[in-house]
Amino acid sequence: MDASIAQRQRVSSGAATTSTPDIRVVQLGPGIGAEVKGVDIAAGVDEKAFARVRHALDAHSVVILRDQDITPAQQTAFAQRLGDLRVSFYNRYAVPNQPELSVVSNIKQDGVAIGIEDAGMLWHTDGSYLKTPDMYTVLYGIEIPHRDGKPLGNTLFTSAWGAYESLSDSMKARLAGLRAVHSFVHHLDKKASLGKLKRAPLTEKQKAELPDVDHPIVRTHPLTGRLGLFVTEGHTKEIVGMPGEEGDALLNELWTHLKNPAFIYTHTWRKGDLIVWDNCAVHHLAVFDYGDIPRRLHRAGLLGPVPV
Ligand code: SIN
Repeated sequence: MDASIAQRQRVSSGAATTSTPDIRVVQLGPGIGAEVKGVDIAAGVDEKAFARVRHALDAHSVVILRDQDITPAQQTAFAQRLGDLRVSFYNRYAVPNQPELSVVSNIKQDGVAIGIEDAGMLWHTDGSYLKTPDMYTVLYGIEIPHRDGKPLGNTLFTSAWGAYESLSDSMKARLAGLRAVHSFVHHLDKKASLGKLKRAPLTEKQKAELPDVDHPIVRTHPLTGRLGLFVTEGHTKEIVGMPGEEGDALLNELWTHLKNPAFIYTHTWRKGDLIVWDNCAVHHLAVFDYGDIPRRLHRAGLLGPVPV
């Protein structure tokens, strides 16, 4: 089934019955980022309240629900209302008894990492290296690091739409019809070459299961129809038919453009924050400024359509 149809169906099914009368949406960033106030997932979110969250997500691409106190099962149930969940192939970092959730953390128990330690070190959109990348991500903050009372480990989001729409007409014409290769193997190689890789290398079997894919450089959002830039520093290896210096220069120009602060919302985490973001509309980056101070989040990914 087309993912957008599945997501729409979720809106009208499986909802809790508690009413949530006082919901407010507060814009946080430049075109992206909004806090939805008045939603308590543990208490239950009725269809009307959930529709407000969905609407805010379509409008702002990144939605924050603060002060949530939820179990892994509640996070999973909430995320499932957005569509079909992906079960991560990195299931050695799954939350116990909750294979739809992955642990993102720098914490070690008996010297062994309890979660993915290097998630988000380079700008990316989740699962872009797959034929059907993730549509949404639902990330829940359980332990947020602080130093001298200041929260650390921010997550940055940049607007793919804002970046595309502000390109010159000649650049838009240049990009029309171009495709780029996204590669998980390239991503890990790049992280390793930057000294940022903190996980075991892929086995040959895993590599074979994750072949490179190509996607349009300008992607049409499956729900809103808006156009967004879809090349990421983390996973885009090359432009199809433009290898070498010309392609590298164009990719670097687009990556630099995407990092313009005019398009960026920076999220400062609080324990209990649940963020839902739209991977077709934003790219994200995690800030690793907390060293060994514990940070722990639970992440769910929602299946998306083939990018067009
Ligand atoms: C991710 O990129 O999936 C994780 C983001 C974060 O840890 O802030």
